[in-house]
Amino acid sequence: MTTLTMSDNNKKKVDDEENNNNNNKSIVSYWGIQPSKVTKDDGSQWNWTCFRPWESYKADIKIDLEKHHTPNTFTDKMAYWTVKALRYPTDIFFQKRYGCRAMMLETVAAVPGMVAGMLLHCKSLRRFEHSGGWIKALLEEAENERMHLMTFMEVSDPKWYERALVIAVQGVFLNAYLLGYIVSPKFAHRMVGYLEEEAIHSYTEFLKELDKGNIENVPAPAIAMDYWQLPPESTLRDVVVVVRADEAHHRDVNHFASDVHYQGRELRETPAPIGYH
Ligand SMILES: [Fe+2]
Ligand SMILES: [Fe+2]
Repeated sequence: MTTLTMSDNNKKKVDDEENNNNNNKSIVSYWGIQPSKVTKDDGSQWNWTCFRPWESYKADIKIDLEKHHTPNTFTDKMAYWTVKALRYPTDIFFQKRYGCRAMMLETVAAVPGMVAGMLLHCKSLRRFEHSGGWIKALLEEAENERMHLMTFMEVSDPKWYERALVIAVQGVFLNAYLLGYIVSPKFAHRMVGYLEEEAIHSYTEFLKELDKGNIENVPAPAIAMDYWQLPPESTLRDVVVVVRADEAHHRDVNHFASDVHYQGRELRETPAPIGYH
C-alpha cells in the first residue's frame, strides 16, 4: 500500500468528476434532464456528483467516544464475541497499517445499513405500512460509510490481493448479515453497535500513529473537505477525527435500534434518527 501525493490525486479526482459532467450533458439533454449547476456558498463550482452541498455537514466531534453497551443477554454476548472474534484475524492481517485497515473495514461497514434498509423497505411494501423513517436512516448510514471509503481511497492504494479479499469478504458478510437480520434484527443491530465500538478504537489507534509520526499527516483529501465542511488547512488527522465521530453516531443508532427490539417493539414504532451524524 503506497501513500499518494495528495495534491495530484485530488486534482485527478476533480478532473474525473468534471469530465463525467461534461460527458453526460449530451446524453441526458435528449431526455430533458439537465445536470443541475451546483455551486458552493462562495460561488465556486461544486465538484462532486456523488453528494451535494446540502448533504455535507459538520461532524459533532464532541460525541462521547467511550459509551459502551454491556452485553448481558445471551444474544448480546453472542454479538459481542462475534465482533471480538472477527477482530483478531483483522489485527494480525493489518498490524499497524491503519490507513489500509480503515479502507478495508469501510468496505464491510457500508454493508449492514444497506442490507437492513433493503429488508425494511421490502417489509414496508409487503405489509403496507410506514417504516418510521428507519429505511432512510439506515440507507444514510450506508452512504456515510461509503463516503468514508471514498475518502480513504484517496490516501491508500489497495493491492490486487486486498481487492480480492474485499470481494470474498463481501460475498460472505453480505449474505451472513442478510440471514442474521432476517432471523434476529436485535442481534444484527447489536453486532453493528459493537462493530462501531471497534471502529472507534481502530481510529483512535490510527490517530496515535499519526501523532507519533509513523503515518504521514498529509493534507485532507478534497472530497473530505467538502463532505465534512472542513477548513482549507485540514489534514488527514482532522479527517480521522470526524470519521471516528461518525462511527460513534452509528454505534448509538444501532444499539438504540437493538434496544427498541429488546423492548418488544418494532423499529417503525419509534421515529428514526434521520440525519443523526
Ligand atoms: Fe466508517
Ligand atoms: Fe460506522
